[in-house]
Amino acid sequence: MYEVNRIGVLTSGGDAPGMNAAIRAVVRMSIFHGLQVTGIKRGYLGLLKKEFVKFSLGSVADIIHRGGTILRTARCEEFKTEDGQRQAIKNLQEEGIDALVVIGGEGSLRGALALANYGIPVVGIPATIDNDLAGTELSIGFDTAVNNVVDAINKIRDTATSHERVFIIEVMGRKSGQIALYAGLAGGAESILLPEIEVDMNEVIFKLERGINRGKLHSIIIVAEGAASALEVGDDIRKRTGLETRITILGHLQRGGTPTAMDRMLASRMGAKAVELLLQGANRKMVGIAAGELLALDLEDVLSREKVLDRSIWELAAVLAI
Ligand code: ADP
Ligand code: F6P
Repeated sequence: MYEVNRIGVLTSGGDAPGMNAAIRAVVRMSIFHGLQVTGIKRGYLGLLKKEFVKFSLGSVADIIHRGGTILRTARCEEFKTEDGQRQAIKNLQEEGIDALVVIGGEGSLRGALALANYGIPVVGIPATIDNDLAGTELSIGFDTAVNNVVDAINKIRDTATSHERVFIIEVMGRKSGQIALYAGLAGGAESILLPEIEVDMNEVIFKLERGINRGKLHSIIIVAEGAASALEVGDDIRKRTGLETRITILGHLQRGGTPTAMDRMLASRMGAKAVELLLQGANRKMVGIAAGELLALDLEDVLSREKVLDRSIWELAAVLAI
């Protein structure tokens, strides 16, 4: 067991809508329990540069609805080295921070584990639009990103129908197809190309032609960035079918905007849970969620596993787009 008086909180890696709601929950729950809270700006980069801010209840007012992160975020190569991590621990000690909440994606949580290995109690909160962490059904930001993509698909549908075109829409996710899978089903895509399932262009073209033969006015193909390039998929389709194609790469549009209510809920619950876990003496944990219940997962175990994609959702999308 250890005593916690001051909790540090940072956001790191790619920003995710809902990070602010998580910061707010960490700060308010800590203060509720009589703890002090220090915000660390710009992730591990700011930790190395001692960019500390003392938080009060008011510091996190009026942020629950804002995308991005008020703490800013960064990527930091120096922190990956042993020297960098030792410096980070020294800076935390000098600031009187005796427990840390890290809000971020896989890389950031690897950093959190590295710090925990030097003895500081750490709890991670999964926040990445990619939803690529094992053990948790959801990460903060995923729901907003999926809704952003579905919103874009709805708009593209209008013009796709008018011109009777094939649209290929490339979405983010790094090595994960979660955004493509959920947005593809919710957006009624004809085909969904994912890194987790081998891409079969013959099948994509078969479905396109079958759709046209039964009178479909347009087709939407969703491509996860980790599966293929939308430009190449579009070229291939045009060359092999003669159909008119258009490409949309949604890019960082997916990562911005006000977080959905579901992301704010998730972030508020996970932020509060992280503080409670530290108060209970937990360490090297990641908060997760399954079937609506919050979980305290072993961080090292989470990071040693690959997230498994639910293939049945992909199969369902294919049947419903027939
Ligand atoms: P994300 O958290 O969104 O996956 P990154 O993979 O870019 O983002 O990681 C964010 C930061 O976390 C990196 O810039 C680095 O400072 C730190 N980090 C990433 N991987 C490791 C690692 N294996 N060990 C220590 N720190 C890491
Ligand atoms: O990890 C989140 C993510 O948005 C990925 O989906 C994407 O591949 C990457 O970050 C983009 O990174 P950057 O913001 O550095 O361009």
